[in-house]
Amino acid sequence: MTDFGGYEGKLVTIERFILDQQMAFPEAKGALTNILYDMALAAKIIASKTTRAGLAEILGSAGEENVQGEEVQKLDVFAQRTIYRLNDHTGRLAAMASEEEEEIIPIPERFELGNYVLLFDPLDGSSNIEMNVSVGTIFAIHRRVTAHGPGTLADCLQPGRSLVAAGYILYGSSTMMVYSTGNGVHGFTLDPAIGEFLLSHPNLKYPSKPKYYSVNQGYQPYWTPGVQAYTEWLQRDTPEKKGLSLRYIGSLVADFHRNLLSGGVFYYPADTKDPKKPGGKLRLNYEAAPLAFLAEQAGGYASDGAQAILDIQPTALHQRVPLFVGNRMLVERAEELIHVHDRGAA
Ligand code: AHG
Ligand code: MN
Ligand code: MN
Repeated sequence: MTDFGGYEGKLVTIERFILDQQMAFPEAKGALTNILYDMALAAKIIASKTTRAGLAEILGSAGEENVQGEEVQKLDVFAQRTIYRLNDHTGRLAAMASEEEEEIIPIPERFELGNYVLLFDPLDGSSNIEMNVSVGTIFAIHRRVTAHGPGTLADCLQPGRSLVAAGYILYGSSTMMVYSTGNGVHGFTLDPAIGEFLLSHPNLKYPSKPKYYSVNQGYQPYWTPGVQAYTEWLQRDTPEKKGLSLRYIGSLVADFHRNLLSGGVFYYPADTKDPKKPGGKLRLNYEAAPLAFLAEQAGGYASDGAQAILDIQPTALHQRVPLFVGNRMLVERAEELIHVHDRGAA
């Protein structure tokens, strides 16, 4: 594996870094490289709006519901259109899919088709925007499995294990893009003065001593005995770790990012609150799987409580999945306690 630690202390733009990676892994033939460029550009365009979200013209909801039955904020629509318009005509994609669209998004007939599919959550945590809390974008890139013609649902329904790249953009106190093409996880921070993403976090790994657990503890009455026992274990000093502090933003990207830098676990378990949502809230294909890919690349792990998120074969575009993600030791403990308490095993 390439040692990207050599970048430490050097001033490197995301363009230079992606290009260097392409030279090290030429099989990508430039297409993947260019999709990542376009996501970095999308990040700059979306960030230019999120930092002005308090201004009247973009505040509030667009007055429609997305395909999950949730209210769409205006910035969701803006982020969705930005990513779509940057990628529909490049000849690199066979199809796209987004949280905001019920079906897969075809490439218009007048444009060339490519070998990849792009799945994304254009704006994650959007209910937080009006309170000036961090939001994010999550993206996942697969190589198409069909041979030719427009991309199909089958191209989009691939297990996370087949991802060729994944990443997120965090619109926080600064804007960051963090991605992996399977050779470590690398983070870039936008310098707004020059409009460039600069390499700030090469080769990210979970710290071995975790600090935080992140969960919506308001749902505790609806948790299974396994999730209750797990949370108590996280709170206690145990031979493996000190008791963890709770941090929960309610923006998946921001919660995931903090735990990646500080060590910890984020979980959104299945609960008994909404019988219509037995798989929890988060979506497998454009939330859980790309973050699971990054977690494993950073030495961590992601599970649905029973198996690796990356091994789940999706059956529907918008399917939901319980998610436990963070330091490997913490996530494996969730699997054990759920196994013991919720599945009746000794
Ligand atoms: P989205 O805004 O894309 O629909 O996702 C919202 C998600 C995620 O960011 C966060 O982890 C979770 O909702 C928080 O849900 P609760 O309010 O139920 O804790
Ligand atoms: Mn989301
Ligand atoms: Mn969203």
